[in-house]
Amino acid sequence: MTVNRIILMFIAFISFIGCERGEQVAQRAQEASIDSLLNSLSLEQKVGQMTQMNVEVFIQRKGGNLPYPLRLDTAKLIEAIQKRGIGSIMNTAGHALDPEDWHYITQTIRFFSQPENGGTIPIIYALDAVHGANYVANSTLFPHQLGMAATWNDSLVNAMGEATAFESRSAGIPWIFSPILDVARQPLWVQFFESFGEDPYLTQRLGSTLVQAYQESEWPVAACAKHFVGYGFPFSGKDRTPVHIGERALREVHLPPFDEAVKSGLRSIMVGSNELDGIPMLANRYWIEEVLRKEIGFDGVILSDWADVAHLADWHRVAKDTTEAALLAVRAGLDMAMVPDDYSFYYDVIRLVNEGKISEERIDASVRRILKMKLDMDLFAEMEAPTVDESTLKAHSAAAYELAVEGITLLKNEDGVLPLRASEPVFLAGPTAHSLVHLNGSWSRTWQGMDTLITHETHPTVYEAMRVFVHELTYKEGSAIDRVGELQDAVNGALESSVIVLCLGEAPATEKPGDRRDLTLSRAQLELANAMLETGRPVVLVLLQDRPQIIAEIADKCAAVIMAYRPGNEGGRALADLLFGHRNFSGHLPFTYPSAVNDLVTYDHKFAETIGPDWGPSGFRPQWEFGHGLSYSSFEYSALSLDQKTYAKNDTIRVSVEVGNSSEIKGKEVVQVYISDEIASVTPPVKRLRDFAKISLKPGEKNLVDFEIPVASLAFVAEDHKRIVEPGRFTLRVGGLEQSFEVK
Ligand code: BGC
Repeated sequence: MTVNRIILMFIAFISFIGCERGEQVAQRAQEASIDSLLNSLSLEQKVGQMTQMNVEVFIQRKGGNLPYPLRLDTAKLIEAIQKRGIGSIMNTAGHALDPEDWHYITQTIRFFSQPENGGTIPIIYALDAVHGANYVANSTLFPHQLGMAATWNDSLVNAMGEATAFESRSAGIPWIFSPILDVARQPLWVQFFESFGEDPYLTQRLGSTLVQAYQESEWPVAACAKHFVGYGFPFSGKDRTPVHIGERALREVHLPPFDEAVKSGLRSIMVGSNELDGIPMLANRYWIEEVLRKEIGFDGVILSDWADVAHLADWHRVAKDTTEAALLAVRAGLDMAMVPDDYSFYYDVIRLVNEGKISEERIDASVRRILKMKLDMDLFAEMEAPTVDESTLKAHSAAAYELAVEGITLLKNEDGVLPLRASEPVFLAGPTAHSLVHLNGSWSRTWQGMDTLITHETHPTVYEAMRVFVHELTYKEGSAIDRVGELQDAVNGALESSVIVLCLGEAPATEKPGDRRDLTLSRAQLELANAMLETGRPVVLVLLQDRPQIIAEIADKCAAVIMAYRPGNEGGRALADLLFGHRNFSGHLPFTYPSAVNDLVTYDHKFAETIGPDWGPSGFRPQWEFGHGLSYSSFEYSALSLDQKTYAKNDTIRVSVEVGNSSEIKGKEVVQVYISDEIASVTPPVKRLRDFAKISLKPGEKNLVDFEIPVASLAFVAEDHKRIVEPGRFTLRVGGLEQSFEVK
């Protein structure tokens, strides 16, 4: 048994005792362990620890292709792990792999990194897990984050996190690149669907729930929150293009989700590929070192995004070559570079230390953090992997189904067109109606998700799921996403029916390949929609899309509109159950649905943005507001009360409101609490979400819902960039009711 092993067993024993003193002793023992590991490493091995490489580098190829089942090139592995001591390997090779293939890969890598086989420090394997363990074949594919945010349900998000951790660990993966904590306020941004939407509070709350679920579940994985910071709000909307956000706004909107996740014990952060006001984030010492490390107190691992050290030279042009780029990144605070395909970073950093441009103490600080994460994740011990059996998969799919049901959002339902009746002939059309690709979006078995692999899975599409309920269902595609199809066929089919369900959307895409120049729903789909509307049959529009696409031309004419996001493999079943009323809608928009391409205003806009051309407050005209979502039930709010009229800065505001279900149908309601600061030294937003609760009500049931809101949460980032609560008048609004109060 090695010395490290004994120290680790000691740590485990002490942690088990669980007392505070025990924790301090365990911490000291871990620090001693880190010291001894660090002292055993050469400079080269330390820099190796800071290097993360793509698994594809180590896969044997045949004529340039990846032959499956994959075989690792052991000579290359030995060079990387034993000669250079690299710290981490990441990514999948081509597409999702079976758990057995993952075991072969992770176990082989582990074998070569074990001291008894010539290695030194265990490799930490990292993988993208964007909506479930998406690169593990047959794993549960949940709705993407945007659809999860629409549930406004912390416990469902927690269930997703635990299931994802379990299924990642089942493949031997201890570190995942998730969650996305970018606050998405620009719907053109291609990764909009990967975010929790436009609101900092919703993102912060669900983000830290997810971090805790990943890291504290029975089979924990280390989370990597991304992309620090502001990456989700590029001015042009295009991926990896400049972000122009002032420091105050960045601190107000984009920083809080990271801050909260750090408080929840987050182990790692990925730096965004964006520049901020001319300085690439990866070279941004102020935001990484001063704000993230010192102010927020983050002591976990800071990772670059894909090839971003090199991009400081070739894309951002702030360095003349990769060596200068490495110097900038390490000086700014980088711990580990996702290089990922060569040894440039490794050689560059060794040279920089040898030339005295980077001190060895600086290297040690990063390696300490990497070693700590490896110790925390128990990588030095035998890493056990749970087995995903049928009953586990069933439970995880049930959670995915609930998330889809509770996220899918009913935006409009006129004249009770929904729920559909099984006895009526239904016509189904549109390019997303019979496709698992469109239910799942990107990061589904492959990076872009646009392949046939997913179509072999046995989950029902919307069409297949609807067929179970309706006696007469005819389906014609009518149009592809970007190409008009057999319109006349679709019109004939529609005329035979009494209601049309029209499934439209967009093709899955993420990162650069998904850059868009226009937010409008494609012309081909608008033509199909108009042809369907002209039949005079009521149209139920279902949108399977990554963001709000502009549908103003047809929205008013459709009888019902449903935003389905990317609801995952259970999305077809969830949609069918909702359409036929076997389940009730309870999703609410986590973003403002705009009505025009150039009118992208978030719900927490400034008062000046509400001024319309008539100089009156008619300037904010979204298609649907943030937080909007209908149900088959109707809810009534009454008796809103606050425990006081005046509060001091350290007080807690105790709010209660009665919510009743005045319908015959059981339903869930999201009770949303907004607070407006009436006058402040920095222009206040018209309102901000400060709390919410999702409650369930039987027909006729009425319940009192309580909230405790610390006055401290009314703070805003003042002119000097510090958070303050200013005395004055505030208005609190819940479900159409309002109450004013003072802060002294
Ligand atoms: C993306 C990250 C992702 C990483 C690893 C990058 O291109 O921006 O979000 O985690 O690749 O696949």
